[in-house]
Amino acid sequence: MNNLDLITNFIKKTPKSELHLHIEGSLEPELMFKLSKRNKIDIAFNSVDEIRAAYNFSNLDSFLKIYYEGSNVLITEEDFFDLTWEYVLRCKKDNIVHTEIFFDPQSHLERGVKFDDVINGIHNALKKGHSEFGITSKIIMCFLRHLDEEPCFKVLNHALRHKDKIIGVGLDSSEKGNPPKKFERLFNAAIKENFLTVAHAGEEGPPEYIWDSINILKVKRIDHGVQCLKDEKLVETLKEKNIPLTVCPLSNIKLCVFDKLENHNLKKMLNKGLRVMVNSDDPAYFGGYLNTNLIETSKALNLDLDEVKVLIQNSFKSSFLDENSKNNWLSKI
Ligand code: ADE
Ligand code: ZN
Repeated sequence: MNNLDLITNFIKKTPKSELHLHIEGSLEPELMFKLSKRNKIDIAFNSVDEIRAAYNFSNLDSFLKIYYEGSNVLITEEDFFDLTWEYVLRCKKDNIVHTEIFFDPQSHLERGVKFDDVINGIHNALKKGHSEFGITSKIIMCFLRHLDEEPCFKVLNHALRHKDKIIGVGLDSSEKGNPPKKFERLFNAAIKENFLTVAHAGEEGPPEYIWDSINILKVKRIDHGVQCLKDEKLVETLKEKNIPLTVCPLSNIKLCVFDKLENHNLKKMLNKGLRVMVNSDDPAYFGGYLNTNLIETSKALNLDLDEVKVLIQNSFKSSFLDENSKNNWLSKI
């Protein structure tokens, strides 16, 4: 067996964790088409092939436009259950034993969808995933940073009724021009309510947004963070504080953050001792779930088995699992 086959086999058979997955980004064209018919929602495409053909992006914003359009077919609790259940089946296939997923309530509330239908559909599918396959999970509610801070407080109030299901809050959507400090009051309020905080930062935006996510939003993890290498002091701080960076290699290529996977800076980040791991972000749009991300990245960056192991270990270490569960999984890698 050559080294690449060995690493591929290792990736497939090892229990893994995923920490950066937008559930709306796991909406496959087939399900989008089915739901558009079920809910009588017009979409701009006549076939599954047409949908797939439209997935060519030049940057984050060009993707978000299509991503929010796709989300329009999600209406009922059953839709959110079906969406999440499909992702759970992917987890089973990829040997993901723990997952922490994002959802974007604001993109649904503005269409008249009920918050409770969104969260209950997602939660019930994850619960079934636990009882049928033993897959554990956490739910993180993201605020859309292109919107104003004030209306987000209403969304936070919804989350208060579902504290048993939502572990933390995050920040996503269009990064450039929407700095973390825009959401300082909101994140302070969320922290007061004992929600953990994370934020997308340094995906396209500057290192300053990573600093501000740490210092102002008090995040436990940075989502993406690949722009951190532009600032040596920031790298030192991320290392000192052991702040995880949930990197998403195929996403970064699809959104033109790097021109090709061979030029991705994940290996550099790893070699600097940063706590990085691999995630799929919006797998239905970016061409691969977790195993594909890990396999393609290992190949392109020539990662050795020890480096792949560290990535998988980092994912469990950086999760919001309790220490016993973390150690239990770490002992199996
Ligand atoms: N929402 C879904 N995917 C995203 C990404 N990669 N960056 C910011 N917001 C997102
Ligand atoms: Zn993301």
